[in-house]
Amino acid sequence: MKDFSEIKEQYKQKIEDVLDSEQLSEFWQKYLGKTGVISGLMKEMKSVPPEEKPSFGKAVNDVRVWAQELYQTKQAEIKERELERRYEKEAVDVTMPALRRAPANLHPISIIRQEMIDVFAGMGFEVYEGPEIEDDDHNFTRLNVLKDHPSRDMQDTFWLTEDLLLRTHTSPGQIRTMDREKPPIKVLVPGKVFRSDSDATHSPMFSQLEGLVVDKGITLCDLQGMLDQFVRQIFGESTKTRLRPSYFPFTEPSVEVDVSCFECGGKGCSLCKGTGWIEVLGGGVVNNKVLENCGIDPEEYSGIAFGIGIERITMLKYGIPHMGKFFENNRDFLEQFKA
Ligand code: PHE
Repeated sequence: MKDFSEIKEQYKQKIEDVLDSEQLSEFWQKYLGKTGVISGLMKEMKSVPPEEKPSFGKAVNDVRVWAQELYQTKQAEIKERELERRYEKEAVDVTMPALRRAPANLHPISIIRQEMIDVFAGMGFEVYEGPEIEDDDHNFTRLNVLKDHPSRDMQDTFWLTEDLLLRTHTSPGQIRTMDREKPPIKVLVPGKVFRSDSDATHSPMFSQLEGLVVDKGITLCDLQGMLDQFVRQIFGESTKTRLRPSYFPFTEPSVEVDVSCFECGGKGCSLCKGTGWIEVLGGGVVNNKVLENCGIDPEEYSGIAFGIGIERITMLKYGIPHMGKFFENNRDFLEQFKA
């Protein structure tokens, strides 16, 4: 009578070697599956003499039951081991310090832009934001920048089509305001502007704050008075302004505005390059042609306008030497500015 001890011995050894569920399923196929070794034993029934068939059948069945038990024990063992391993792998050490979330702070440009707006809002200005994509008409022509003016040069302006461009200044906001509103007008236009220009103090994208006042009897003195107040609040009470003649097609007369150096008080230092003065903005009396282009009668009304570079003011105020710093997204740099 066969006791299948050889097969059992082999089975016992092979199941020892099974280490994970993948190997376990291979093992099942090989021994206990339909075409496996133990199922194969039944096929030998053919060659067993009839009187021995019942006991042979029982013996095979005993082996199957025995094998299945061993298999189940192994299966439970592996399941447990694999679960343990997963727990280990996915374990969370609740005693570890939590990741610190650094509180966000405003970008220095945003801080100074808001400070600047606050100063002018105190003088009664309202805020209007125009589109960053402009047409030739608003950005140039109606501002009296005629077709052959050098500031239209391909090198300065990012043209999108023959007519559309990225605004090169916030001055088109003047046109849009005068199209929309009747005087008295007192408006600020903050926003991004774009010029093909890049070095330590220039970036192809930067920000300006445009100001426009149109009313009866507005003169250059109003401009100087407002700017005096502006620079005192931004750079300190003892700061003074100086107007120098300049040229912009949309203002007449035009001025360049300097502030007395708030670092040395006017004696001359590295910030003001020894001159005692620092240039901060451009402005002037709104050109009559521009008023006319917007349907405002220059006999009745007059205006003043100015444009301030927000990065420039921020660099001066915080002593930042390079324009690129604003756009590097370096946290160590940005975290120094708390509003
Ligand atoms: N738009 C001018 C510039 O970008 C600044 C300016 C604005 C000058 C308003 C005069 C009046 O340089």
